[in-house]
Order: sequence, then C-alpha cells, then structure tokens
Amino acid sequence: SLPERVTIYEVGPRDGLQNEKTIVPVRTKADFVARLVAAGCPVVEATSFVHPAWVPQLADAAELMGLLVDELGEAALEMPVLVPNERGLDRALEIGSRHIAIFGSATETFAQRNLNRSLDEQFAMFEPTVTRARDAGLDVRAYVSMCFGDPWEGDVPVDQVVAVGRRLFELGASQLSLGDTIGVGTPGHVVALLDAFNAAGLGDDVLALHFHDTYGQALANAATALRHGVTTFDASAGGLGGCPYAQSATGNLATEDLVWMLDGLGVEHGVDLEQLVGTSLWMADELGRPSPSRVVKALGG
Ligand code: HMG
Ligand code: MG
Repeated sequence: SLPERVTIYEVGPRDGLQNEKTIVPVRTKADFVARLVAAGCPVVEATSFVHPAWVPQLADAAELMGLLVDELGEAALEMPVLVPNERGLDRALEIGSRHIAIFGSATETFAQRNLNRSLDEQFAMFEPTVTRARDAGLDVRAYVSMCFGDPWEGDVPVDQVVAVGRRLFELGASQLSLGDTIGVGTPGHVVALLDAFNAAGLGDDVLALHFHDTYGQALANAATALRHGVTTFDASAGGLGGCPYAQSATGNLATEDLVWMLDGLGVEHGVDLEQLVGTSLWMADELGRPSPSRVVKALGG
C-alpha cells in the first residue's frame, strides 16, 4: 500500500546550483528559493556552508541567507543548509539556521575527494559538528553519498553503506538521506538497501532517498522506495544538479517528474505543479539551457 502523503525535500538551490559552470547571481538564487516556497515546496535546502574554494558557486551562502531572512523572515532559518565541519556550523549559527545537513561518504575515494578526509576521518569531523549543533537545538540531517555505486570504486557493498549510515545517524541525526550520487542504482538495489537498513534498526520513517537521474532510473527508484514505505524524497526543480567532485553525476530526480507521478498515484505532497514548472522554465532561461525534466518539457511548450 502507498502512504497518503510524502515530503518532497527540494535540493535545487543547493545540489542544483553547486554544479553550474557559471556563477548564478545571488539575487537570482534568492528569487529561485522564494519561488519554490511560493510553489508550496515544504522543505527547500538553500545553500552550503562549505569551503568557498571547494564550491565557488555557493561562496555567497551567507549573503544569500541574509537576503532570504530579510525577504522570507523566520521561514528562511528553517531551510536546511549543508555543513561539513565546525567552521561551517559556526557560519550557519551566525545566520541563525535551525536545520543543518552533514554529508558523509560510503566510500574511501569519495571521502577523500569530497571532504579531504579518509572514510574513518570523516566521522571525527562530523562528531563535534553534530554534537554542538544538537546542543544548540538544531535539527541535523545526514546524507550518505555513493550508496549505489562509486565512479572510482565501482560496486559498493550494501553492508558498507549500512555501516556508514548507521554511524552517521547515531551521531545524532533525525534523518538519513541515501544518495545515489552518480545515478547508477536500479529498483532491486533500492529494495536490497532499504531492507538492509531496516534490518539494522533504521526504519523507512527515518530514511530519505536522494536520486540522481544519470541513467534515467530515478523515478523508477523513487516509485520502488515509495512502495517500500519511504515518505521523504529529495528532488531538484527542473532536474538541476550534480556534484562537482563526482564527474559522472548529473542532475537530481526532477521535482516535476516526482510530482507528476505522485499526483497520478493520489499521494499528497502540497506542491503546485504549474507554479513549479513556471519556476523551472524561468530558471532554465536564467541558466541559458533547457531543463532536462520530461514533465517540464511536456507542460512548458
Ligand atoms: P580542508 O581543506 O581539509 O579544510 O577541506 P581544513 O579543515 O583543513 O581547513 C582549511 C582551511 O579552510 C581553514 O582556513 C579553515 O578555516 C577553512 P585557514 O585556517 O587555513 O585560513 N575552512 C572553511 N572555510 C569556510 N567554510 C568552511 C570551512 N571549513 C574549513 N566550512 C572541507 C575540508 C570539508 C572544508 C572541504 O573538503 C569542503 O568544503 N568540501 C565540500 C565539498 C562539497 O560541498 N561537495 C558537494 C556537496 S556533497 C553532494 O553534493 C552529495 C549530496 O548531494 C548527496 C549525494 O548526491 O550523494 C549531498
Ligand atoms: Mg546530490
């Protein structure tokens, strides 16, 4: 049976824009976030407090959050922001953010490439970050990347993903988002991973799925996870996205594609599809290239 309602966790402004070749003006980013909120997106991950040299596209994180607080008020502080370490946490706390997301890697190579840490060292970076965040009353989400495959290491054993995910969750996260960073996963793999997490004591209620659509499997994977019992799905408006430290990563599951499927299934989500498509068409215009989302193409003509 299907859940009555799901939460769409919008990552376009963060996962989407972190991977753009050109620097998107901060004003455009603020308008993008405001339009997503106006379209009914219940959760919008706004930006990242990572090292500005590592992700120049999001170097304006503090400025963006300042604009959002001015224009959207308290709601801006509820928007999750990526934080890799204590320095990032300090920057998020300065703004007054209430929700942060740490992001670990299931593989050794990606931990090195994305965090400049070994698989083991990443926990030493996250531990004090999460402890301090929790002491300050913040909510913490934990991502695990490369859950379904890694561009350098190939297959990633399910047990290894579960071990990393459990360790991250047990630091004090309220939700674990399982990332198919390079979009290689398929539905059978989704079931195997969810079953393994459930067996390890992490139920579908604390899991989110984060699909990239490189191989066109994102929607099939989301449908599979939905049937399994997962009720939080990450998606990016218009299918923007990728990861600058994983070449083979493309855009996320497009929010519009997810919304179309959920509407067809009668599962509630609260997002206005027409407004969302309008936002993605506007953003595509700003970026100078069309959205890869099939639903945006179908409705936007
Ligand atoms: P590092 O070079 O090892 O940092 O980078 P460090 O701890 O050695 O510090 C070096 C200097 O950087 C220090 O300054 C720090 O203060 C400064 P100095 O004392 O030399 O003047 N510094 C910072 N400055 C600003 N903000 C910070 C910060 N941290 C240190 N937060 C680090 C380690 C983790 C910082 C770096 O590797 C990094 O920023 N990585 C982020 C990469 C990233 O953002 N990747 C994309 C997001 S992950 C993703 O997209 C996947 C996801 O979507 C899920 C999926 O699809 O699977 C989430
Ligand atoms: Mg991602």
